[in-house]
Amino acid sequence: MNVVNLYERLGGEAAVEAAVVRFYDKVMADPDLAPFFEHMDLGAQINKQIAFMTMAFGGPNRYTGRDLRTAHAKLVQRGLGDLHFDAICRCLAETLDELGVDPGVRDDVLRIVDATRGDVLGR
Ligand code: HEM
Repeated sequence: MNVVNLYERLGGEAAVEAAVVRFYDKVMADPDLAPFFEHMDLGAQINKQIAFMTMAFGGPNRYTGRDLRTAHAKLVQRGLGDLHFDAICRCLAETLDELGVDPGVRDDVLRIVDATRGDVLGR
């Protein structure tokens, strides 16, 4: 499926922003995940995630942050691994379900995110 269609099917910019904010509430409620984000400016992090997800879902490419391997290298040194990556994917899947996203579209999104696993985990 065309990823541009995926962005439109998700509902465009407003839907992506709503999804990211909900997603972060879940991440911060998970005791395995929250420590990675403590001491961070969460507002800035949310803005980066909005830009990234917009790109990942096939919207206008406005992501200008560091590449995913570089951005997560220090976290990998601190123990970031598949357990955390899977937990993040669960948070995202729950968010999309709660927003009423079609299960087929949700699975497309998760496949796109899973394609970043090797870079995020530095392998
Ligand atoms: C699932 C796929 C993931 C994607 C697509 C992703 C995406 C991103 C992006 C785009 C940034 C900002 C990069 C920048 O501009 O500097 C970032 C930073 C960050 N990510 Fe992820 N991430 C993922 C997984 C994770 C996981 C599993 C964790 C921890 C549980 C995590 C924790 C962080 C933290 C703490 C930062 C800020 C790092 C810093 O500023 O030093 N990410 N991520």
